[in-house]
Amino acid sequence: MKKQTENLRKKLKELNEHSLRVADLARKIAKVFGENEKLAYLAGIYHDVGKLDERIFNIISQERALTADEKKIVSLHSEISAQLFLEKNSEKMNIKDLLEVTKAIKQHHKPKTKLALIIFIADFYDALRHRPNYKNGNGPLSKTKAFEIMQNYNLTFNLPKTIFN
Ligand SMILES: [Fe+2]
Ligand SMILES: [Fe+2]
Repeated sequence: MKKQTENLRKKLKELNEHSLRVADLARKIAKVFGENEKLAYLAGIYHDVGKLDERIFNIISQERALTADEKKIVSLHSEISAQLFLEKNSEKMNIKDLLEVTKAIKQHHKPKTKLALIIFIADFYDALRHRPNYKNGNGPLSKTKAFEIMQNYNLTFNLPKTIFN
C-alpha cells in the first residue's frame, strides 16, 4: 500500500513538472511563431490535466506497459483536459481565446490548429527529454539527441535550438 501511494505521489509530481515545462516551451515557440504566448502557456498548463481523472491516473501510475484497452482509456485525457479547462476558465476569458485554447488542448496529440501544433511540439520534445524509452530513444535524452530526433520527425520548423532546454 505504501509503495502504491509513493507511486501515485511520484506520478503526480512528474505530471505537474511535465505540464510546467511544456507550458514554458509552448510559450517560447509561440513567441517565435508570432502566436499568442499567454494562450500557448495556458494550453500547456492544462493539456494533460485530464490524466488526473481517477481511472486514467490509476492506469498511468502502473509501472508496466499498457494494454491496448488501457491506452484507449488514457487517450480520452485530451477531451477531459479540455473540459476541465473550460470549467475553470469560461467566466474569465473571451470566447475566441477560450475556443482556441480548448481546441489546442483537445487536439494536442493530433494537431489541426497552430496552437495545437505548438503544444504537440513542446509535448513531444519534453517526452524525449524526460520519458524513458520514448520513440525508441533510451531516454531521458540529452538536449542534442532530443533535438536531433525532433529534426528527424520534421518537428523543429526552423525553431532556434536555443529555446529547447
Ligand atoms: Fe497528452
Ligand atoms: Fe503531455
